[in-house]
Amino acid sequence: MGSYTRLRMNIFVVYCCVLLAIGASAAEDQISASRRSLAAADLKPCLSTAKARTAYPGSQEYENARIVFQLRNRYAPAAFVFPTTVAQVQNAIACSIKAGVGIAPRGGGHSFEDYSLGGRDGVLVVDMAGFTGFSYDRTTQTAVVGAGWRLGPLYLALWNAGKVTIPAGNCVSVGIAGHALGGGWGFSSRKFGLVADNILEAQVVLANGTVVTANKSKNPDLYFALRGAGANSFGIVTQFKFQVHDVSFPVTHFKYTWTTKSQQFQNFKAFQTWGVNVPAEISASFYLDPFGNSNIEGTYLGPKSKLAPLLTTFLQNAARPASTSVEELNWIQLILVNAGKPSNTDPNYLKLQGFQLPTNTFKAKSIFVNAPGLSDAGVNAMIKAMNGGPTQKAYFLYDLFGKQSAINQVPRSATSFVHRSSLFTIQAVAYWGNNAGEAAGDTAYINNYYQSVRPYATSEAYQNYIDRDMPLSAYYGSNLGALITDKKKWDPKNVFNFPQSIPLK
Ligand SMILES: Cc1cc2nc3c(=O)[nH]c(=O)nc-3n(C[C@H](O)[C@H](O)[C@H](O)COP(=O)(O)OP(=O)(O)OC[C@H]3O[C@@H](n4cnc5c(N)ncnc54)[C@H](O)[C@@H]3O)c2cc1C
Ligand SMILES: *[C@@H]1O[C@H](CO)[C@@H](O)[C@H](O)[C@H]1NC(C)=O
Ligand SMILES: *[C@@H]1O[C@H](CO)[C@@H](O)[C@H](O)[C@H]1NC(C)=O
Repeated sequence: MGSYTRLRMNIFVVYCCVLLAIGASAAEDQISASRRSLAAADLKPCLSTAKARTAYPGSQEYENARIVFQLRNRYAPAAFVFPTTVAQVQNAIACSIKAGVGIAPRGGGHSFEDYSLGGRDGVLVVDMAGFTGFSYDRTTQTAVVGAGWRLGPLYLALWNAGKVTIPAGNCVSVGIAGHALGGGWGFSSRKFGLVADNILEAQVVLANGTVVTANKSKNPDLYFALRGAGANSFGIVTQFKFQVHDVSFPVTHFKYTWTTKSQQFQNFKAFQTWGVNVPAEISASFYLDPFGNSNIEGTYLGPKSKLAPLLTTFLQNAARPASTSVEELNWIQLILVNAGKPSNTDPNYLKLQGFQLPTNTFKAKSIFVNAPGLSDAGVNAMIKAMNGGPTQKAYFLYDLFGKQSAINQVPRSATSFVHRSSLFTIQAVAYWGNNAGEAAGDTAYINNYYQSVRPYATSEAYQNYIDRDMPLSAYYGSNLGALITDKKKWDPKNVFNFPQSIPLK
């Protein structure tokens, strides 16, 4: 591999979906074609009464609608429906029950396991993209947002409305719904909490068609369940009310990179040691790959002139960086830079007009690590596993939480997001695009990485990096019992289900 390729790979992975996307092709398949058309026949007359747009097997619209970020499974839904009103969502739920097919709401389509296609063939997909309501209230610093927004357009709308934001991730095509309902970590989360922590209220359509509000005082058990375990287990969320945060001041983006494999151990150790005490105004992600690269990228909610002392402990312990970039920006420029764009890009880029959903084919696992981080033996085991694979199309991200972060101030049982005492979460990904022959080897490689790190970490994993091989206890821990109680109350017939939904018992 030449250095050009190395550099490009590095950029690909760090700037997440916009560039990580490698455009794997969506090959046609014929999975359960007969069953699909049977279900579609039952759904068609029922769905047509509510006059929402639909797409059925055999049409180009249907094939286009089947494309989601993760192309590993290529599930074949019975049909798609694109509601724009609550009444059309109610109708879709009623029709799925009547036709005896499963149902899956879709936000931005970034589920790692394709759960917005139901995680199996033959379900009715309710694509919520038409829910684009937006209003902002300056006095209470709140925003009411439809469930159909993607992060890029939402960041821009919040900025334009009042120079405010929510602490969401960097990948601008991710949907707010799936992101918020499973946590939602981004480059201001150490200061402002997870996106889930900023849900003040949600409007939900239940299995029986009833529309309910969930907030602190109204249906608090449902409010609890939605903030961490809200993806397709209790109902379809049509709208959120978020606490938003002032970001009208200068902020700073920083990135330091290294390209030497022998420095990975030292740099990783420097990251963990520094991470334990770094103030909440800094959010950061550390990166490793089997090419020998390491880097740290993050944001500081303040001016460049004040950043240096906050990075001293890290930079003193790390090797000398191969490249350094520290840039003072306004908030919306920071969003562009975090999305892999130059800071002088027209912010209207974030509207994603005419954009094509990025795609890839990959296996991912996650794991939470508590302070003070991995032991030296753990770091060695981790690096050995990372360098022992058949592929180099892999990356490993370490997103900082830590005791100073707003995330860890929330009690474990206050929301259904249980992971409140970790130093960082690891995201381990290997991707193979159209080379299906690499799937088995890459999957074994990621599984081996996980097994190698697991003895030095916790049993917790991040539900927004959902992995079909993990038990629900890893995602919900001590909150699982309360979630099962809530499930029995809010969806007693298990209408909303997928392979890793909250069960009735
Ligand atoms: C490239 C990439 C980058 C990412 N970066 C980050 C990151 O920086 N930080 C982070 O925390 N996560 C990140 N994620 C993970 C992301 O938060 C999750 O994949 C999230 O679930 C995606 O939401 P979505 O709406 O796009 O997905 P979808 O696939 O549409 O939905 C995910 C799940 O939520 C359910 N759901 C969707 N809409 C609703 C609704 N209205 N009501 C009820 N249930 C619903 C779906 O049925 C499905 O089970 C990233 C993912 C990708 C692919
Ligand atoms: C919760 O929702 C109810 C019903 O809409 C509303 O009356 C109440 O003020 C809300 N409470 C909070 C804390 O937002
Ligand atoms: C709808 O379901 C909810 C939750 O299970 C329940 O409280 C409510 O009574 C039901 N409404 C009707 C009309 O059946």
